[in-house]
Amino acid sequence: MTFVCLTLFPEMIMGGLCHSVIKRAAERGAIDIRCVNIRDFAGNRHNTVDDYPYGGGAGMLIRAQPVYDAYQHARTMLATNARVVYMTPQGRLFNQAEARALATEPELVLLCGHYEGIDERVIEEIVTDEISIGDYVLSGGELAAMVVIDAVARLVPGVINEASRQDESFSGGLLEYPQYTRPAQCLGRCVPSVLLSGHHGNVEDWREAQKRERTRLRRPDLQEGRKP
Ligand code: ADE
Repeated sequence: MTFVCLTLFPEMIMGGLCHSVIKRAAERGAIDIRCVNIRDFAGNRHNTVDDYPYGGGAGMLIRAQPVYDAYQHARTMLATNARVVYMTPQGRLFNQAEARALATEPELVLLCGHYEGIDERVIEEIVTDEISIGDYVLSGGELAAMVVIDAVARLVPGVINEASRQDESFSGGLLEYPQYTRPAQCLGRCVPSVLLSGHHGNVEDWREAQKRERTRLRRPDLQEGRKP
């Protein structure tokens, strides 16, 4: 799967995603993460991409033309008519179900805003989806794009081991059960004895009960068995 980010801060995105599972997946070619720097399409001597908002108001906006030209450049890197996701607190809330849906796409463009936002005309022209990662305002869309790329990339076949994906939080609409590793006693606490029993059926039952109890206590809004 290919991700192309339209951003003013490509180093932030490439630096943030160049680690661990995502880095190895990119090295193996399971995913490809690229950036197009909107500033490269400023089209003026001073390389400025922002301007004052019509009607007045605080802050600056990113002009439509550099974003559109960066998008046109991104298109030359893509084989399909990829969806263009604008990262914005005004978008629909991102969750695991959304990550699963996006992971079926072969290519995705992520548009990261900055300053007070982007001229609405280019949003109308190129954006197919608007996504928020939570009800708070970040100083730019880059962190949000990184969150989306990480969550989507690990659902792409071959990026992580299938079994670990099935067990994790949200996979069946529930939170994950607690886990322990050696030693059996640590910090004055013991590993639950069922995990040392070697009885796989009992271990499975215990884990299933833990998932339900954790979800009920910590995230009653998730409701049992409903995929978020
Ligand atoms: N840009 C700024 N805040 C954001 C948020 N909460 N989600 C997505 N993009 C954003």
